[in-house]
Amino acid sequence: MQVKVTVFKDYDEMSRAAADFVIDLIKANPQGVLGLATGSTPEGTYAEILRRKDELPDLSGLRTVNLDEYLGLAADHPQSYHYFMRKKLFDGLGLKPEQSFFPDGSNADPEAAHAAVIAYEHKLLELGAPFLQILGIGENGHIGFNEPASQFNTRTHVVNLSESTIQANSRFFNSADEVPKQAITMGVLTLMQASRILMLASGEKKAKALKGMIEGLVEPELPASILQMHENVNVFADEAAASLLSK
Ligand code: F6R
Repeated sequence: MQVKVTVFKDYDEMSRAAADFVIDLIKANPQGVLGLATGSTPEGTYAEILRRKDELPDLSGLRTVNLDEYLGLAADHPQSYHYFMRKKLFDGLGLKPEQSFFPDGSNADPEAAHAAVIAYEHKLLELGAPFLQILGIGENGHIGFNEPASQFNTRTHVVNLSESTIQANSRFFNSADEVPKQAITMGVLTLMQASRILMLASGEKKAKALKGMIEGLVEPELPASILQMHENVNVFADEAAASLLSK
């Protein structure tokens, strides 16, 4: 199956359409598992979902899983992905902490990190495949924190963040020095298990990676290209991110 691409005029239009898409799938799967991403790109989608929360069914049976978490940040650290999700979505939806799952990045000690990796992979197996996984794309083509040259057959693991990811994410910190150098991420194999994938891409900085992902070879140098092998992928992009696509 080919990746289905829809291009929107701008970020706001893309975010409204993405919220529509996610709300419909939550309505169809209120007891299911929803896979979420952090970063700037889905923020508009989450805000729109919150604005329309009256349309949502009872969410007490919904479970959420997140792609990744920095290693060495406690869950209540303002730059942790736990904290981001709580502020941008979970509190507004009234989700209880026990409904949402993340890799535990609070202890960067290698043994503790290894235990957190195993625990998260087990939790994901126990929960079962998400009915939808939302993804963003890194400027270097990463998905989750699966950086270029990652293996495709990986499950949850610890990664060393690439210099380009550290630089890109430094905008959320006081300086690049404060950005953790490692993270725990779902592996490529793990995130490919979702029944559907919605990739969001906005801005011209993403145009090259998006073109490679959709029109290039499937290769570890561009981790997102593996999505060509998934049977149910939608890409929602704004015109700037889609500007290099050939049609
Ligand atoms: C976030 C994640 C990353 C981001 C990607 C794009 O949980 O796993 O892969 O989706 O880095 O980030 P933004 O949206 O900030 O450009």
